[in-house]
Amino acid sequence: MKQVVVIIACLLLAACGPGDPEAGKRVAEASALAAYPEVPKPGDVPALQAAGKPIFKAAGCETCHSSSHERNGLMGPPLGGVAEAVLAQHKGDPLEARRWMVKHIRDPQRFPGQHAGTDDYRGSAMPPNGMLKDADLRALVEFLWHLP
Ligand code: HEC
Repeated sequence: MKQVVVIIACLLLAACGPGDPEAGKRVAEASALAAYPEVPKPGDVPALQAAGKPIFKAAGCETCHSSSHERNGLMGPPLGGVAEAVLAQHKGDPLEARRWMVKHIRDPQRFPGQHAGTDDYRGSAMPPNGMLKDADLRALVEFLWHLP
């Protein structure tokens, strides 16, 4: 009996424990769907952008990314106009492109972007973010999405 319990515990740990290499991927994918069940209606965008701007700062993104086209000596690529490249990577699908941005913010190593394999990637030096709520990610991504 004891052995059975031990075996079941080991199986559970393997499936959902901290050692599960797929766990981070599933969290990121679930966040992408929760944050973006659909593309926001144009009328909702200004409020989302306004909510996302302070999150960009509070979540530490600004320490590595500018929100313009100038790199300003920061480690990460500038994010001005980032939507254009992300859209192109997702066959012009605005929903999948936004969902990818959520996944990239949650787990940059598992969801690498256009800089994978370049000097900008560095394996990636961008830290995963498990702290932001899905609703915050929606606002943050809308802020980034509409950066000119
Ligand atoms: C320690 C530095 C660092 C921090 C902090 C950081 N990033 Fe990054 N980020 C990078 C680097 C380096 C890359 C390029 C490599 C890659 O794509 O992973 C990148 C890539 C990106 C990209 C993809 C850009 C593209 O052109 O494909 C987005 C979007 C992004 N970061 C958003 C964010 C957001 C939002 C935050 C805050 C939650 C953040 N980053 C925090 C370093 C950082």
